Amino acid sequence: MKKLLILLLFPVFIYAQTQKETPQWRPNYHFSPPKNWTNDPNGLIYYQGQYHLFYQHNPYENKWGHMSWGHAVSKNLVDWEHLPLAIPEDSVWIFSGSVVVDKTNSSGFQTGTNPCMVALYTADYHDGKKEAQYLAYSNDNGTTWTKYAGNPVIDLQMKDFRDPHVIWHEKTQNWVMSVVFPKEYKVVFYTSKNLKNWTRAGEFGNQGEMRKIWECPALVEMPVDGNIQNTKWLLFVSTNGPYDKFEGMQYFVGEFDGTTFKNNNPPETKLYVDYGKDFYAAIPYTDTPENKKILLGWMSSWQYAGEMPTFPWKGQMAIPRDITLRSTPSGLRLFQEPISTLKAKKDYLTFEKENFVLSKEKQISGSSLFANNSFMVEVEFSIKSAKDFGLKIAQKKDEKDDKKTLQETIVGYDVIGKQLYINRKKSGQIIKENFPSIEKASLKFEDKTLKLKVLVDKSSVEVFANDGQIAITSLIYPDEKANIFSLFTNGGKVKVKYLKITDLSK
Ligand code: FRU
Repeated sequence: MKKLLILLLFPVFIYAQTQKETPQWRPNYHFSPPKNWTNDPNGLIYYQGQYHLFYQHNPYENKWGHMSWGHAVSKNLVDWEHLPLAIPEDSVWIFSGSVVVDKTNSSGFQTGTNPCMVALYTADYHDGKKEAQYLAYSNDNGTTWTKYAGNPVIDLQMKDFRDPHVIWHEKTQNWVMSVVFPKEYKVVFYTSKNLKNWTRAGEFGNQGEMRKIWECPALVEMPVDGNIQNTKWLLFVSTNGPYDKFEGMQYFVGEFDGTTFKNNNPPETKLYVDYGKDFYAAIPYTDTPENKKILLGWMSSWQYAGEMPTFPWKGQMAIPRDITLRSTPSGLRLFQEPISTLKAKKDYLTFEKENFVLSKEKQISGSSLFANNSFMVEVEFSIKSAKDFGLKIAQKKDEKDDKKTLQETIVGYDVIGKQLYINRKKSGQIIKENFPSIEKASLKFEDKTLKLKVLVDKSSVEVFANDGQIAITSLIYPDEKANIFSLFTNGGKVKVKYLKITDLSK
């Protein structure tokens, strides 16, 4: 028996030994686990000066499985310190969920002088028969967790029932959990006084985007246009995104009275969070020092996540985003900007140039800055006669003929079609036939001015346009030597009002 096992496991061992590491795709300023698999962020909480990130993690292999909660902390949401596994699998897998700080010790789990953390997560009975909601608590800063002896805290004997997201609802003085019935396109709300006993309240669903199951709900109260006296609730749901058969996220804007959610838009309105294919399962940090709301998502798609060619890790988080809710001519909309601490890093190389006119493609040199494909571009364009213009990232030219571009990722604006896009058709390694594509978002503006913030970090590109009105997130796998950076225009001229590039490599 033992011999047979060794024989069977030998090829797996050899494969693991021989697989090459891929430092060329290891992000510098995005979170990725030191090794092995990650998907959704879990339990995002700010506690005593640190942001905690728990994450779906396979501690043993570089693929999905043995789901457990990994753990990292950060002071600025950019530099992460990796900590030991927080909640390991047992007879059940530890699926997505959230963490709250129980400031009043409503649960009675606090042992010392500091409030304890309480996690509510989905236990997945991985023989596929059931999902139920479980509780665990920690009295040592989220390092070790005790699984509650009274688990499950909610069990409906359902196969698909997951991703609890818990908030404190001030008005009703209740804990409120949003949790999904994925196949019924429904978020169900539960209330509790002590995080252990939950009462079923209202539900919301069957509207908006329903081309894929609903996962990872999250409710957050947002000031409208920065006014804390006037708030609306956002309900985030991970499901199908803007592209048929690809995951993404939608949000609803409305009221939440402590038991149920009321959509302020007609049921057929679909509001997407991101127009790329690689932004999923995001949940917010809410209880932050300046009461900022920060959204953090997994940067991949279930359509090809297993094919991500990175080793010894697979999976990374998108950049944390400062989110706001603003009035626009089409109604209240979510705005997203890369976390402001990205800028605060010291001693980084920057490149700046102002007021120049572009009439053709122009390589920007400053090689040491681009060498690592790990930087932020801030640029403002004023459209003259151009039909199509923007940036070309991670370019690689033919050594014998530099007119021939072998690889590039294009971030552009199509003036006629009024669309912002990322084109990753020639971005490098094609990990699956459904990977090369152009992701587009409709973007109109009146004064012919387009402001972009573009984050490039080895194996990803994130674009934020006009103060965060539109976000597009895409994974890319360029060659290590594909590190030319250019601006381009087609069909006419564009003026570059300013171009600032900040090196964010370590
Ligand atoms: C979303 C998801 C969740 C689930 C977790 C499992 O990506 O499918 O619904 O809890 O991943 O890893």
